[in-house]
Amino acid sequence: MTLTSPVRVALIGTGHIAVEHAAALHSLTPHIEVCAATDINPEILADFCAAQAIPKAYPDAAELLRVEQPDVVLISTPPFTHAALAAQAMAAGADVLCEKPMVVSLAQLDAIQAAEARTGRTTTSISQWRYGSAASHVKRLIDSGELGDPLIALCNTLWYRPPTYYTSVPWRSRWSTEGGGVALGLGIHAMDLTLWLLGEWEEVSALAATKDRDVEVETIAMAQVTFRSGAVASFVNSAVSPRQNSYIRLDFQNATIEVDHLYQYRNEHWRFSVPDQPGLQAKLAEWQHIDGTAPGSLETQWRIFLADLRAGRQPLTHTSRVRSTYDFLASMYKSALTRQPVRRLSVQPGDPFYEAMNGALELSR
Ligand SMILES: NC(=O)c1ccc[n+]([C@@H]2O[C@H](COP(=O)([O-])OP(=O)(O)OC[C@H]3O[C@@H](n4cnc5c(N)ncnc54)[C@H](O)[C@@H]3O)[C@@H](O)[C@H]2O)c1
Repeated sequence: MTLTSPVRVALIGTGHIAVEHAAALHSLTPHIEVCAATDINPEILADFCAAQAIPKAYPDAAELLRVEQPDVVLISTPPFTHAALAAQAMAAGADVLCEKPMVVSLAQLDAIQAAEARTGRTTTSISQWRYGSAASHVKRLIDSGELGDPLIALCNTLWYRPPTYYTSVPWRSRWSTEGGGVALGLGIHAMDLTLWLLGEWEEVSALAATKDRDVEVETIAMAQVTFRSGAVASFVNSAVSPRQNSYIRLDFQNATIEVDHLYQYRNEHWRFSVPDQPGLQAKLAEWQHIDGTAPGSLETQWRIFLADLRAGRQPLTHTSRVRSTYDFLASMYKSALTRQPVRRLSVQPGDPFYEAMNGALELSR
């Protein structure tokens, strides 16, 4: 790849989310060229390549990587396959963008980071909610200190997934293939954004259960979280809530910041309330205007990823910058399944929750 030639991207996994990535990638032509794709299901692969005008289809990832030597590989396969495919793609010389959840255990995250060290390539998580203009704006505002100390936060993912959601693909609903339920699969977007905005978390007390669906993994998961700053937060995740919404509220000493949307926020989904400080209110409005209008979408993340790649910058959701979120998730599951509070960085090799989010335990119903 030179500074002017298109970045050659190959896709591993051509199911539902790959279609949305393809649309994002097409919008970045001519900066990106999608050179090839592979999927273990030949019919899904053939239909995808025909519909998306992708020139080469390969029966397996090894052959694709050997023949095409892409600059970047997108991994959009089921969660349990991500870590091995990321290591394989990096060994072939590619940088990797990997769908969420990037891994289903901290052990897998360590394996990816070891592969990064071996190969000199990188893996970056798809976490598109960190990338919208509003989220960047809010992060800068928080870090500037003008909002005062963070005090209390709410982070709700109240979504609805009918029984067919769990049976429509072979990998959902089981710990061994999906890795977790609503927290790891759905709430991860809002929880990752909240954790990134509020900084280092300290301790989590959680509960999880399987309500109203005949599945192994949890369909509801709640957590109380404390942060190093002294802030406290409540996280609520549900896959069984008929009126759906995604809501984050952050209360600082001087302002309340909220975002209320479903799957993809735009600037207008965010609200800034500054009751007593007209000067700060005016400044918030001005900064909002300056910061752009990119939604928290896959296309926004690809656009920023491409700029980072060309500039040699570490992406915002590189493995090292999402590790805290996966440490949180492993700790949240451990707390829910053991009914004990769990502190950050306490899930280490030798702990069953390091190897699997459920620590090989069963959930209550
Ligand atoms: N970022 C988001 O907003 C978002 C939204 C939906 C799904 N996802 C994530 O994307 C991933 C895929 O989800 P999906 O809904 O597209 O699932 P899907 O089942 O529709 O697609 C996955 C595809 O991967 C293929 N596959 C399985 N193992 C493979 C392997 N070893 N090599 C090559 N192909 C393989 C399957 O045949 C299937 O076609 C999951 O991790 C999911 O959590 C992310």
